[in-house]
Amino acid sequence: MNEVDSLKKIVRDQARMLQEKNRLLSDLEYRLKQNIVTDSRKEDLAKFQFQLSRQTIDGQAGLLKTILGSIPSGLMVLDAEKRIISYNPAVQNILEIQDKEILGKPCSRFFGESCEMHCLLEKAMETGEAQCSREVRVRTGNGREIVLALDVAPIRDSHGNLIGGVEIFSDITGDVIRESQLQKKQDSLIHVLAKIMEKKDHYILSHSERVKDLALSVAFEAGISEEKDQQELTYASLLHDIGLISVPDEVLLAKRTGTGKPVDLIQAHPADGEWMLSNVEGFEEIKKIVRSHHERFDGKGYPDGIKGDHIPLASRIITLAEAYDAMLHDTATKQRSKEEVLEEIKANRGSQFDPGLVDIFVSKVKG
Ligand SMILES: [Fe+2]
Repeated sequence: MNEVDSLKKIVRDQARMLQEKNRLLSDLEYRLKQNIVTDSRKEDLAKFQFQLSRQTIDGQAGLLKTILGSIPSGLMVLDAEKRIISYNPAVQNILEIQDKEILGKPCSRFFGESCEMHCLLEKAMETGEAQCSREVRVRTGNGREIVLALDVAPIRDSHGNLIGGVEIFSDITGDVIRESQLQKKQDSLIHVLAKIMEKKDHYILSHSERVKDLALSVAFEAGISEEKDQQELTYASLLHDIGLISVPDEVLLAKRTGTGKPVDLIQAHPADGEWMLSNVEGFEEIKKIVRSHHERFDGKGYPDGIKGDHIPLASRIITLAEAYDAMLHDTATKQRSKEEVLEEIKANRGSQFDPGLVDIFVSKVKG
């Protein structure tokens, strides 16, 4: 009988018991009303209640076993000495360990004292708080390195005393390999695009690299703390002006030197940048950030005129970093000091720029 069939049988048996219980209770209710309850009837009911309780417990244990046997995640229960006292079949599949080797053995025996899997268990048991890790590298029983997503939680008795721990994990090795391959592809794409930008106009590349450093310096405090989000901010900062490569050289020069106002062509660059990045795998968020890096907090920016929190946070950061860098290195206007540029930034707090970000940015740049 497979897992699904045994699960169906448990549910069917429990439904049948429930039906029988209801029939007996109706019968008892009728006899009570008629005042014809006999001692033998009371005995039958007591026996039935006992059977029902036992079958319910067995049924629930069976159900739990079936569920644990069906889930693809590994689950190990450990006692206070960190010895494995229970586990599901997925543990053996994932960790490639033989059945007889597991029970009663300390977790560290398989992965070593320094393994993060063991360290997280120790931390959970010491602090009494659940721990998790996105990437834990362990060696299987066959010596293969795999990557696990791991959750560890302490187990307490009814008085609150720590009596053990439970580890739940899944094998994410395939995902990690795919992510790393995608990252390599994205890095080489950035490299190529950087060369194209440099060929077009060296200023775009050096400006983009400074914007990237400024944006990353405020990212964490601004609320971009996840590695994936910081990576997106990095790429979007480096590529935010990629759309300028479709602007003719003389138009770019006129803007740079302040000798002309080719506004339409220049203002098309955020949308052009989004379009250029539109088919790059993994750049779905990055292209949106690029599109919105000239929006204003008050909604008077371009290309969409969105405002406030509707503008992606990363775009709001780049807007600020780009404006600061452009003012500091702008050759079209008179040279300004860092202090003068920061005053200008503060003057546009809440209109052009996100006010909360301005506060963080100014304190970071002032150092
Ligand atoms: Fe721009």
